[in-house]
Amino acid sequence: MSPSPQSAALALPVTDEALAERLHSRMAEVERLLAGHVQGRTAYVTEAASHLLAAGGKRFRPLLVLLAAEAGPRPDAAEVLTAACVVEITHLGSLYHDDVMDEAALRRGADSANSRYDNLVAILTGDFLFARSSELTATLGADAVRIQAETFTRLVEGQILETVEPGPGEDPLAHYLEVVAGKTGSLIATSARYGARFSGASAEVEEALAAYGEIVGSAFQLSDDILDIASDSEESGKTPGTDLREGVPTLPVLMAKASTDPADARLLELLAGDLADDQRHAEALDLLRKHPALDEARAYVIAQAQEAKALLDVLPAGPAREALEAFADLVAVRSA
Ligand code: IPE
Ligand code: IPE
Ligand code: MG
Ligand code: MG
Repeated sequence: MSPSPQSAALALPVTDEALAERLHSRMAEVERLLAGHVQGRTAYVTEAASHLLAAGGKRFRPLLVLLAAEAGPRPDAAEVLTAACVVEITHLGSLYHDDVMDEAALRRGADSANSRYDNLVAILTGDFLFARSSELTATLGADAVRIQAETFTRLVEGQILETVEPGPGEDPLAHYLEVVAGKTGSLIATSARYGARFSGASAEVEEALAAYGEIVGSAFQLSDDILDIASDSEESGKTPGTDLREGVPTLPVLMAKASTDPADARLLELLAGDLADDQRHAEALDLLRKHPALDEARAYVIAQAQEAKALLDVLPAGPAREALEAFADLVAVRSA
């Protein structure tokens, strides 16, 4: 795992020592490969592309590739490690772009690329990383390229959909869940799929793990939404309330907005207005932190984790399945 303090927060509670050891040494190899894959032809590109990789991160997606690969007969295949790099580099590129979209100043406890450099460099470095992950995917064959392309289409459409209001008569929560499935569920589903596929698991197991990854991925994003309200930046490495300030309608906010309790009048008024104003933003954040919608959102995410775990029934009982179950649980209650 990466040495950043944030990686420790999602360290997987794998109780099987042999599995823990295997995952640990494979993650170390993935780290080594990743550092090589973000090298450009010029020092400037390498520096910009390495910036957020070196800053840390939880390496959640490559870890899921490695875990899902335990479901197949060849968990140690070289393609599994390549696939782990593909998903992390794709994710990394999406972070460069996302911080431009969200005008975020902090990422992985470091300056975001847009604050360290500027929007242009951040966008082009994100493009460089997407191109790099495509080059790597091509080494995995035509099906992997198709899966990666479909995943990326969904991710980008999710990001675009987030900037668009729900249509007339469309339920805002349903719209939002579609955004989340696209922008985050898609790549995490592919992480689980790649792990199963490149370790030689059956088609049935691959489909079940992809479905598991889709739900875990959405739950992961919804947990992130809760953290945007509930955590401080020391825990998350990001600025709290960023989604709120940008007017991104996250799960707890949507749930709070559905309230008909007169005691919520002030919160609803704040949420309907401009939250770029520091004082209004601080007041809304404070009210949301005390609001039952936060626990309602947490309960929803925990239920999602249960649903994901049920899909693991196709796997034999044993350390790999237990670790995937623990992974789903951890996502639901993560603190960073
Ligand atoms: C951040 O992803 C963007 C989301 C989809 C929530 P992570 O929370 O996995 O970010 P890192 O990789 O650990 O920095
Ligand atoms: C990030 O979504 C999704 C992608 C990077 C595709 P968010 O904007 O909600 O994530 P954070 O909070 O910046 O990590
Ligand atoms: Mg963001
Ligand atoms: Mg965003």
